[in-house]
Amino acid sequence: VVFEPDDVVVPGQPGELLLDLAGAAGIPLLSECGGQGTCGSCRVLVQRGRVSFADQAGREEEITAPREVLACQTAAAGDLVVRIPPEARLRPLHQRITGYLGPEARVYLQEPHQGMPLARRLALELAPPSFDDPTPDWERLAMGLRHACGAERNLTANLDVLREMPRLLRELDFKVSVTVLDEGWQDRLIALGKPDGDPLLGLALDIGTTNIKAELVDLGSGRVLGGASEFNAQARYGEDVISRIIWAQEHEWGADELQDALVTSVNTVIGELLKQTQAAQEQIVAVSCAGNATMISFRLRLPADAIRRAPHVAPVGLPPTVQAGMLGLDTHPAAGVYCLPAINGYVGGDISGGILATGMFAAEDLRALVDVGTNGEIVVGNRDWRMCCACSAGPAFEGMGIECGLPARPGAIESLRYESEHDCVDVRTIGEELPVGVCGNGLAETLATLLDAQVIDRAGNLVAEFPSPRMRQADGEMQFVLLWSDQNATGRDLVLRQSEIDNLIRAKAAVFAALVTLLEELGLSTGDIGHFYLAGAFGSHLDVRTAIKIGLLPDLPAERVTVAGNTALAGAYLTLLSSEARDEIQKLARATTYMDLSTSSRFMEEYIAAQMLPHTNLERFPSLAPDNAGPEWGNSLNR
Ligand code: FES
Repeated sequence: VVFEPDDVVVPGQPGELLLDLAGAAGIPLLSECGGQGTCGSCRVLVQRGRVSFADQAGREEEITAPREVLACQTAAAGDLVVRIPPEARLRPLHQRITGYLGPEARVYLQEPHQGMPLARRLALELAPPSFDDPTPDWERLAMGLRHACGAERNLTANLDVLREMPRLLRELDFKVSVTVLDEGWQDRLIALGKPDGDPLLGLALDIGTTNIKAELVDLGSGRVLGGASEFNAQARYGEDVISRIIWAQEHEWGADELQDALVTSVNTVIGELLKQTQAAQEQIVAVSCAGNATMISFRLRLPADAIRRAPHVAPVGLPPTVQAGMLGLDTHPAAGVYCLPAINGYVGGDISGGILATGMFAAEDLRALVDVGTNGEIVVGNRDWRMCCACSAGPAFEGMGIECGLPARPGAIESLRYESEHDCVDVRTIGEELPVGVCGNGLAETLATLLDAQVIDRAGNLVAEFPSPRMRQADGEMQFVLLWSDQNATGRDLVLRQSEIDNLIRAKAAVFAALVTLLEELGLSTGDIGHFYLAGAFGSHLDVRTAIKIGLLPDLPAERVTVAGNTALAGAYLTLLSSEARDEIQKLARATTYMDLSTSSRFMEEYIAAQMLPHTNLERFPSLAPDNAGPEWGNSLNR
């Protein structure tokens, strides 16, 4: 079921009420009568799809034109698109995160499993000192804090807070608020102020090799206030982590330059978030950061050399919480920066975040998580065991190295259809703005639609004889015009070149080959996967059949696939808000085993075989055989 305008997709079973499905999608609805069907507060708009009505003895109906229904009395009976109006929402529209949160993960946003956010504020009313009670200020404050927390936790404080403390306590008549950072084994007092201050904010941050994405979160309510993304400025030092490590080694100030580039990009994202939300820099007191081990090492200015040499060891698996001011971040200088734990030098906190967010760490059946970024990272397993691997996919699906490519942001084409009979291209962009380029979803759909229209062949070669003015030779290679200059905001033709198609095919081939190799090592096959999560460069609008058609996904029934978006960011969000989630992610990172593919001849064979659309061996994609194509071919909910 697709929920609009949030663009969240949740898998559902026939008979599941829309009220429950919306809750599962992280969009709780008003239900003033408790789902009795009498208050009308849960009214939503079914745009299209098959529903059944609980209040009409389960009568089913195919809805073809938008229709208002009660979410508490209407259930899914097939694929559905549902629009949720603002008045039916329990919380405003912006309260959502980019990545999927499975039901096993959502418990960490609720009591009794939430525990503490990374930073919290407590109001204290202390008895002033007297001749009878001359307890020093710090001990007085610590005692009051322990009493307020109701727990015997170690407590420490930053020196600058201690320096301000005597004056502030007296100015505020010993009625103060304290901002405390959870450092795992102790609390750290990082700020002292008036009892009622502005809301405390946290940053959920995903530092990717190519893109940096962040969401600003109200630490009190968990509300997501805004989101932003930016290319990682380190890209000018190398496309992948290995070339950047080498660059850092070969230049005297290389590591410093790489760290500076990263901090600049992160601060650009923070600046954008502060502009969006009108919040103050000082309000950001906690940062939860997902990223691969190299990015985290560069971020902390740690030597990353050992990562590129076998056995690929990261300098730190779970770095201690450090102060943002020491890293040059534009937040409160004492904000705590927590990094999600790495599994291995090549499988970082972005993946442990994904294991946490999808809930695969608690599943009984076999789950697979494939995160397509500049590196492809794959985890298979369940609650008892997990095995992971990594491969170099290249940043093509993240928009890097593709002239018209860009991250998912307003103006990015996320859906593209080419119709050869009339030689026309139909696109849908994020935010319905004039197109400026194509993001991961759009690139996957472009490959699929060009294959359907026989603009490219199964090897991905542009067919020079294709009868369209869009097909042309330029700069020594074939290219196909996706949008003419007067159809987009860049003022020039948006084209896809042969070399760019080759990069996209190599990227999808690498992740597919890594998945199959990992499964085969375990004596399993793609058919054993109970549920599959596709994460990374793709958003929830990606049509599963499209992804299967180009061999990005194995041939699984659509109901066993969740296009999970940025699960690294979802993991960062969970760990920002929940100490129990932080405890869980440490355990699951330790209990996930890494398999090295770099010496696997099997991987190379699979990689070469996967460099066709969808694959050299079509028996691996039985549902794509013409007899089985059925009405689902090219039938996306999103078009
Ligand atoms: S919850 Fe009251 S009508 Fe649905």
